[in-house]
Amino acid sequence: MAQSLKALEIRAKNDIKKAKTLEELDGVFRVYLGKKGVLILLLKSLPRLKATARKQQGKTANALKEAIQELVQKRTQELQRKDTTRAEQGEWLDITIPGNKLERGHLHPLTQVQRKAQEIFRSMGFAVAEGPEVESEWYNFDALNMPPDHPAREMWDTFWLEEEKHSKNTKENFVLRTHTSPVQVRYMKEHTPPLRIIAPGRVFRYEATDARHQINFYQLEGLMVGKDISVAHFRAMIQEFYQKFFGKKIQVRLRPSYFPFTEPSFEVDMTCVVCGGKGCSSCGHGGFMEMMGAGMVHPNVFKVAGYNPKNWQGFAFGMGLDRLAMMKYKVEDIRLFYTKDLRFLQQF
Ligand code: DAH
Repeated sequence: MAQSLKALEIRAKNDIKKAKTLEELDGVFRVYLGKKGVLILLLKSLPRLKATARKQQGKTANALKEAIQELVQKRTQELQRKDTTRAEQGEWLDITIPGNKLERGHLHPLTQVQRKAQEIFRSMGFAVAEGPEVESEWYNFDALNMPPDHPAREMWDTFWLEEEKHSKNTKENFVLRTHTSPVQVRYMKEHTPPLRIIAPGRVFRYEATDARHQINFYQLEGLMVGKDISVAHFRAMIQEFYQKFFGKKIQVRLRPSYFPFTEPSFEVDMTCVVCGGKGCSSCGHGGFMEMMGAGMVHPNVFKVAGYNPKNWQGFAFGMGLDRLAMMKYKVEDIRLFYTKDLRFLQQF
């Protein structure tokens, strides 16, 4: 019997070790310590032995029973631990890994440029004014010293809207404004000088699109009126604006030009921001870039607004915001700003 107990011990230990799941282990337990388990039956047969043998065998068999119980318990814990580790591995969360970057939107480059320009003009004392995108023919042209049939109207390719009949049976024509200049007149009619305003906004031209032309784009109009405002004021102010906007030293050059609502009128050029004035392909090797139109407000425009041109004078200018953005970001095709192409937009 002593021998068979020894063999039983070895077999039991081996079986317990080999059990791979809790179910298997349970089976092993029952083989040895179940109601009809080998060891239990053996213990039950003890009374049949002689007293001394019974005492000795009983001791060994009980010790084996305890040993098996202990081993099964240990193995149970081991298997349970394995189970939870496996479960944890399945849904493992490493809180030290950096999270996925959240997609954040941002302002459109043209909006950024408009806001930056506004901020600079505000810092120079200019207020922001607005006017309608659907404008009357009168404000878009007549009020700006361009009566019907004035050849200068040809400077703007216009989208005309259907005629509007008023109750008094007068007719009024409307256009999609071709420029922001009508806001000058609208503002002056409502306010008394001296004044300093800018009017950013969308304008429309009935023309074919290409890398430099769009049927709609953005302008920023400026107007400063006072007792003795001169071209010198304009030149200093606009140079300061460009320097602040581009963050570098910039020179401004005025060339004679023509606009019906200013006299004298000029085109404004500034140092090429690509080559810094040395001359490159972007500026046609001249070192300067054409930026906008400007001039001294025409007396007829003051009259329309109800100002006496003998008492007041001032400058006006109109710059293309798209052009400003193209210079700032070195974008060669204006149409890109209107594509909604994220690969383009995400660069800003
Ligand atoms: N309105 C002109 C255009 O769209 C630009 C312009 C020129 C505006 C001279 C002005 C100005 O205020 O004085 O072509």
